Amino acid sequence: MEHIDIKHVLEKAEYLGQTVTVCGWVRTSRESKTMAFAELNDGTSLTHIQIVIDRANLEYPATALRLGTALRVVGQVVEARQGSVEINATEIEVLGECPADYPLQKKRHTLEYLRTIPHLRVRANTFNAVFRVRSVMAGAIHNYFQSRNYTYVNTPLITGSDCEGAGEMFKVTTIGYSQDYKSEEEYYADDFFGRKAGLSVSGQLEGEVAAMAFGKIYTFGPSFRAENSNTPRHVAEFWHVEPEVAFADLFDIIGIAEDMIKTIIKEVMEKCPAELQFFDKHFEKGLLDKLNALVESNFEILDYTKAIELLKESGKEFVYPVEWGSDLQTEHERYITEEVFKKPVFVINYPKDIKSFYMKQNPDGKTVAATDLLVPGVGEIIGCSEREADLDKLLDAMRVRGMNEEDYTDYIELRKFGSVPHSGFGLGFERILMYVTGVSNIRDVILYPRTVGYVR
Ligand code: 4AD
Repeated sequence: MEHIDIKHVLEKAEYLGQTVTVCGWVRTSRESKTMAFAELNDGTSLTHIQIVIDRANLEYPATALRLGTALRVVGQVVEARQGSVEINATEIEVLGECPADYPLQKKRHTLEYLRTIPHLRVRANTFNAVFRVRSVMAGAIHNYFQSRNYTYVNTPLITGSDCEGAGEMFKVTTIGYSQDYKSEEEYYADDFFGRKAGLSVSGQLEGEVAAMAFGKIYTFGPSFRAENSNTPRHVAEFWHVEPEVAFADLFDIIGIAEDMIKTIIKEVMEKCPAELQFFDKHFEKGLLDKLNALVESNFEILDYTKAIELLKESGKEFVYPVEWGSDLQTEHERYITEEVFKKPVFVINYPKDIKSFYMKQNPDGKTVAATDLLVPGVGEIIGCSEREADLDKLLDAMRVRGMNEEDYTDYIELRKFGSVPHSGFGLGFERILMYVTGVSNIRDVILYPRTVGYVR
């Protein structure tokens, strides 16, 4: 169907005075005796274009201007108030009617209500802005890595090995377990893959394989977590950006993570000014100032042991006790990043017992060369570490955790053949979207959220 993007009509001076065809959905309209006006949006921009109809000269179907109706409009582009343009319609065709029980009405709906209509909420302004920022940020991530000689790899989604070892894998099976099987092994042997399989929680282990050939790689795909966390920051299916870099230690990878975050945010600020202004106005007052300050700032690097001291000295009553050796809870992370430093903080050198088997053990024998990046308002957005390149230490860490070496033979062999220091991180794509948009619930930055007890 021949037509042009409303974004182009709004932005390109060359269309002024021209006759154009646009298609879109009616977002608002009003009719008087002689004139009618409709705001049309085709999803290419946050701003609608106004269609002006001289009722004496143009007849149109009675249903054409109802909210949500899909139209094709032909008309001349003319100057409007405040330097904008509008279209004087000469032809209006209804492509799809929209009856009065359309769930998206002109009023401002709550985000909770909109979650009940994921197939329609995308047409509301908030989601128009969220998904454009999401798309631009995905492009910015690819641009960042592609322009720096990283190879983009696609790691498997179905896997026989659990990367994080936290028992959060969804099982992949074509048969249900039954009492007829004498053991779990017998059941799995009968299943599709002939062994236990699950949906990957992270592409890291295979990413490391690729990094040992290409030096610098990144993955960008879905990860799955069956964790029972019904919070505004967790979904069971999230998008995961995972670079893996050979010949890099913890501080090299911290530098890369900080530079990537700043660079992609700058690109979003350049390409989505209207969307970010919208979020500043409706979701987080001061958002633009926050982002401008972020790209100019140096992120903090804080030792875990020091973080524990700060929390203990805070005089705050936390719900979860603060003890060296226990993981930081959201309330602790928020205190550190929102109240103490008021900017992103890399907490480094966590106790080895609360972190994953693959992390490089520090000479102190107690901690690992790992970091989480915490940001105000969201908490953890990145999990990162230098990897254990020493075969004996790796095997030791696996034994302590009772892991089955046979499930990790490829990974273990990497340490045998040309092993090098290497590091990587995982950025939760929805988490950084929350930070950049100020949208406080992860369910509102993904098309179809999957959470505990909810899938459609
Ligand atoms: O800290 P995590 O568990 O680290 C890993 O998976 C490493 N294997 C990554 C690596 O080094 N390649 O997860 C990384 C990030 C978290 O910081 C968070 O942003 C996001 O993934 N994430 C989630 N996002 C939304 N919902 C969930 N349930 C998430 N779980 C983790």
